[in-house]
Amino acid sequence: MRIGILNSGGDCPGLNAVIHGVVGAASRLGWEVIGFRDGFEGLLPPGDYMVLDPSRTVGIMKLGGTILGTTNKGHFVAKIGEGGVAEVPQEIVEKAKTTLRHLEIGALIVVGGDGSLTTGLQLYNQGVPVIGVPKTIDNDLQATAMTFGFDSAYATVVDALDRLHTTAESHKRAIVLEVMGRHAGWIALYGGMAGGADVILLPEIPFNMNKVAEAIKQRDAQGRHSTLVVVAEGAHWETGEIVTKEKVGSKGEDRLGGIGDRVAVAIQELTGKETRACTLGHLQRGGAPTALDRILGLRFGVKAVQLISEGKFGQMVSYQQYHVGSVPIEDAVMKLRLVTPDSEIVAAARGVGVCFGD
Ligand code: F6P
Repeated sequence: MRIGILNSGGDCPGLNAVIHGVVGAASRLGWEVIGFRDGFEGLLPPGDYMVLDPSRTVGIMKLGGTILGTTNKGHFVAKIGEGGVAEVPQEIVEKAKTTLRHLEIGALIVVGGDGSLTTGLQLYNQGVPVIGVPKTIDNDLQATAMTFGFDSAYATVVDALDRLHTTAESHKRAIVLEVMGRHAGWIALYGGMAGGADVILLPEIPFNMNKVAEAIKQRDAQGRHSTLVVVAEGAHWETGEIVTKEKVGSKGEDRLGGIGDRVAVAIQELTGKETRACTLGHLQRGGAPTALDRILGLRFGVKAVQLISEGKFGQMVSYQQYHVGSVPIEDAVMKLRLVTPDSEIVAAARGVGVCFGD
């Protein structure tokens, strides 16, 4: 049997561990693995791919990025069609099917987030034997308690906060750290909590700038003259809009960025406190995966091969309660897993005095 694998969307620490897991497990079954380059683009005829065998994937687990390359734009970005549903144009899907047929691919593993898995589902609904593997640093996919990449991403936030603490304290400043998280604030929440942030601003909890300023003034009054604020790129004022760098960027959606600077200016205006802003950006996506993400990626890859061997197509690998199982791909897409404002974890943060600006 010959199987294919592709990763699509933004890169994510742990992708190479998935590839390592797939190739290792497949080779034990005597299967050949074809790795398509640059996401779904590699499926365009005649196919852009590399043959993956264990000699090619040895040692890649510890590497960030993906040896296959990826893209979050191109021909396979879903567009709203006549029925109001976001889909990849049918002529592009046909091209992908032609390549898969021509290369005699018996199953295709799609490693991706919400958008890429939706494309995977579209292929599956048209007869392609697809297995999904969840991938996103944002940790916002439904039907899996965790995705690889998240642990590495928020570890970077914690490291940044550890550094910002010392300079903020030395100068008695407020420092605002902008982190990734378009719709979901998991990176800001986990990173902020573990890094000891005093204010955490999330897309799920619209904030009031006066309340943020009040919290900072109170800290000053108590002799705590530095404040660290973590803000997710998708967070916004109660009355404000999401701040963008580029309206409708190259991948068809607005490119976010700039809320950190806005919040810093507002803090300085409202509190009189010297304030600086810092954007972590793609440092959160690059670099070596943590040990946890390596293990998770590896387990996801091995599980994907097992699902193929059991003929469980249309399923996505899923992590639930320390166990790697599977769920239908359709359970994971179309709706994101967001931070619940009245959840235990938010309450825990409030319990140690974190201000959410609400
Ligand atoms: O993977 C999602 C994400 O990390 C978002 O949090 C962020 O908005 C986006 O990727 C940035 O992606 P890029 O710069 O590659 O377009």
